[in-house]
Amino acid sequence: MRKLTYFIACSIDGFIGDPDGDASSMFGFVDNDYLEYLKSEYPETIAVLGREALGLQDSPNKHFDTLIQGRASYQLALDAGITSPYGHLREYVASRTLEKSPDAGVEIIADDLVGRVRALKAEDRELGIYLCGGSRIAGELLDEIDELVIKTYPQVYGSGMPMFGAGFAVTDFTLDWVRTFGNGVLVRKYSRKR
Ligand SMILES: NC(=O)c1ccc[n+]([C@@H]2O[C@H](COP(=O)([O-])OP(=O)(O)OC[C@H]3O[C@@H](n4cnc5c(N)ncnc54)[C@H](OP(=O)(O)O)[C@@H]3O)[C@@H](O)[C@H]2O)c1
Repeated sequence: MRKLTYFIACSIDGFIGDPDGDASSMFGFVDNDYLEYLKSEYPETIAVLGREALGLQDSPNKHFDTLIQGRASYQLALDAGITSPYGHLREYVASRTLEKSPDAGVEIIADDLVGRVRALKAEDRELGIYLCGGSRIAGELLDEIDELVIKTYPQVYGSGMPMFGAGFAVTDFTLDWVRTFGNGVLVRKYSRKR
């Protein structure tokens, strides 16, 4: 089975954005050292406009070849006039309201989200699945998540959009590694204890 990895940016206190999901206060931490790390280790997690600006158009995918995100997260790209924000990946958007996909490269999942994700995980492919967020879809898919890659920025939000829009339940993970940066950013990788 290939893995579903929630790769996400958050505050020290575990919020992925302000109450509306805006995480722009974190952008200032993307300095040269950290950007070089993202470019070399996780180039496929950079959306198309960023890849163009950074000259990464031909950069091979290293961890993921498939992406899944909720419609609210995808809406940010649509609002910017971009219908395929991660065209270098197979893109899936969960939505019950988008009746037709605005892009031939983006497939809408309207029904049986968990079943569709299980089918994607069962595919015989080398690279894994990037769960891009946001909070609500991550909460719905928590039982299916195999790995977390959490980029923590040295800020406390106090309140905001939680990493998981889910009810209380304890789910155990094992810490695989931590990478620290001089500007206070941490990247932590966890694997699900099954
Ligand atoms: N910090 C980060 O790294 C990061 C990363 C990604 C996103 N974000 C932020 O997260 C925010 C959005 O998060 P969110 O929690 O509001 O929304 P979301 O999880 O991105 O999307 C929720 C939408 O997904 C669809 N959906 C959810 N469950 C479904 C199911 N079982 N079947 C079919 N469709 C389903 C629904 O779309 P319909 O309403 O169309 O039915 C629902 O409204 C954005 O503001 C974004 O900035 C932050």
